[in-house]
Amino acid sequence: MKITTIIENSLGDKNELYNEHGLSFFIETPKCNILFDTGKTGDFIENAKKLNVDLNKVDYLLLSHAHYDHCGGVRKFLDTFNVRPKMYVGEKFFINSNKYYYSDENQKLDFTSDSSEYRYIGIDFDESFITNKEIDINYINNDMLKLSENIYVFTNFEKNYDFEIINPNMKIKQGEEYIIDPFDEEIVLALDTKKGLLVLLGCSHPGILNIVDTISKRTGKNIYGVIGGTHLVEANEDRINKTIECLKEMDIKLIGVSHCTGDTATKMFEQKCDNFFINCTGTILEA
Ligand SMILES: [Fe+2]
Ligand SMILES: [Fe+2]
Repeated sequence: MKITTIIENSLGDKNELYNEHGLSFFIETPKCNILFDTGKTGDFIENAKKLNVDLNKVDYLLLSHAHYDHCGGVRKFLDTFNVRPKMYVGEKFFINSNKYYYSDENQKLDFTSDSSEYRYIGIDFDESFITNKEIDINYINNDMLKLSENIYVFTNFEKNYDFEIINPNMKIKQGEEYIIDPFDEEIVLALDTKKGLLVLLGCSHPGILNIVDTISKRTGKNIYGVIGGTHLVEANEDRINKTIECLKEMDIKLIGVSHCTGDTATKMFEQKCDNFFINCTGTILEA
């Protein structure tokens, strides 16, 4: 299996590629090809060409959750390529898609502005946009779904790490009310490799430890590696330390963080983990 990070926040030394606040993976397996998330702008399409990723050959389109920085390339992808991949999203993907961020001026994320306000950070398409393309939407409500040989999708994560708190500024608008986003549509992909499970994270809003722990218990398998967005960008040093310690106890051999990990957590991982790398735009892993 081959995993290409088509786009994410950092560029490493691949100056010919675009980077952006977002994430997109392409997974090639002997049986099928999977596009997992599509970044923010659709620039992942340009990167795919340069990385020899043929987006005409996407069999499955998976969207980790309904944020603009993971789903922002969906329209451009489906308008550009004459493809009809099987689409998989969490059961509440569209129900939870009216997403906002409340900016309180203290937190400087990509989607915050200088004033206190609710800013829309959801998706720019609806179910009918997808079905008009004659694409079937499969809603995942199983705790664990076998997508293809050695490919599993997980959702409905247990919350065993109480310090992994969802940012209360992340909201869903229901009627005139803004409620804290439960992110119960988030899905995670895992590849069953000879060395153990390789977990691919979108944004980890339910918490990276909650996710990894759930997958480990549900499968009874050892987690060999974790790559992708960890959402530690909002975590304080105490939580980051605890996260690193727990990942060490789980004996995870490969930790490749991307996207919403943040500078502080990235530096702390670098200092404390030998098996750590920045999973930047253009990274190719064979598993
Ligand atoms: Fe994200
Ligand atoms: Fe997100």
